[in-house]
Amino acid sequence: MSLNKPYLDVPGTTIFDADQSRKGYWLNQFCMSLMKADNRARFKQDEDAYLAEWPMTDEQKAAVRARDLNWMMATGGNIYFLSKLGATDGLSFQQMAGSMTGMTEQQYRDMMVRGGRHPEGNRYKGEGGDAQGPMSQSEAWKAWQAKAQNGLAASVQQAQTATNSIATMGARITASVYSSHVPAIGAAIDHGKTAEPYWAPMFQGFEFSKRWMKEHLPDVIFLVYNDHATNFDLSVIPTFAIGTAAEFEPADEGYGPRPVPRVKGHPRLASHIAQSVIQQDFDLTIVNQLKVDHGLTVPMNLMFGTPAEWPCAVIPFHVNVVQYPVPSGARCFALGQAIRRAIESYDEPLKVQIWGTGGMSHQLQGPRAGLINAEWDNRFLDRLIADPKELSAMPHIDYVREAGSEGIELVMWLIARGAMADVAGGPAPKVAHRFFHVPASNTAVGHLILENQA
Ligand code: DHB
Ligand code: FE
Repeated sequence: MSLNKPYLDVPGTTIFDADQSRKGYWLNQFCMSLMKADNRARFKQDEDAYLAEWPMTDEQKAAVRARDLNWMMATGGNIYFLSKLGATDGLSFQQMAGSMTGMTEQQYRDMMVRGGRHPEGNRYKGEGGDAQGPMSQSEAWKAWQAKAQNGLAASVQQAQTATNSIATMGARITASVYSSHVPAIGAAIDHGKTAEPYWAPMFQGFEFSKRWMKEHLPDVIFLVYNDHATNFDLSVIPTFAIGTAAEFEPADEGYGPRPVPRVKGHPRLASHIAQSVIQQDFDLTIVNQLKVDHGLTVPMNLMFGTPAEWPCAVIPFHVNVVQYPVPSGARCFALGQAIRRAIESYDEPLKVQIWGTGGMSHQLQGPRAGLINAEWDNRFLDRLIADPKELSAMPHIDYVREAGSEGIELVMWLIARGAMADVAGGPAPKVAHRFFHVPASNTAVGHLILENQA
């Protein structure tokens, strides 16, 4: 199955999806900056100087200078963002929309007065309607294309062709990995304390994992974790958010950024997963800019050690487990199944691992802080391996009572488990590794590696 994008077949129309959003990120951010009077004044005074402040592509800047909205849209612009630029120029929405049709302002207004453009012949590409012609282009855009010859003009089409092509061999999920993500583990690594008696037994439990990782290196890790009040403050907390950027910087959580490599993303696969999972009725928030905190970087260290570069791409996937209501185990388990369908419908033969992080039992607050329930944690591991569906029915309150208030992070493990082949009728996974240790800081460390059997 290729991406379900029926809107690619609508004439004269560009739908602003995750791919377009990623492409147009800085162009649209630049447009939004024009909502401030000071910025509008600086832009009007010296366009080139103002544009130089924005990391947009040269083509996007040229499209802005030419005030060619079709061109801006082809480079990822969205009309609601671009309208800030139009407003800065004193244009109405009718003038902006009309400018993209190839009509004069008067012709467009007259058409609207006559009742507007008729959908007849304008529903599908190739029909005989009046919106089927080539997109109107400024002389500047034509000149740009002529200069770039085949390259740039083709790039707009490229994504469409790729997504329309029939998948010959798709991506597949090879394994799932589960691990706590205690920040003190990161601090122990960063400060050279891993051999100390307190830490050595904990790191020992990941020695096998690092060797296993070398032999089972995926192309991409889909890494489920929670943002710990790092990117999402109390103004906005999405329940589920997917990172679609090309790179993610380690966050400064108050101690300074950790000395770990930047994380390379996989924008194309991430956008594909967003598209597919949202079409399976899960509401994901698409995040084009994100700094990754200990929830992501600590498991990376545990599985890879401390390389100069991370050896594969990572798609960060955030789950809100901080502010109630948080998603149920059942919803997380179903989401994992949707993610598996999304990944396996991707048209490149990528090996993908899915990781669930957080947990195990811990409570970081109040007079009950320090709660550890090793028996419950081990039972959780048993159930996660053998009967995740039954486990997914467990209500939040049981996590809180039994595993501490922050033990709720364990619902994220059900996303990774839901993506395994057996849940969709395939063979049971192989338990490649299992480890449990108390304590790391306030937390019980749990760790599992499950391999999908061919
Ligand atoms: C601790 C554990 C966590 O999972 C976390 O996010 C923060 C702190 C801890 O045990 O100290
Ligand atoms: Fe945490």
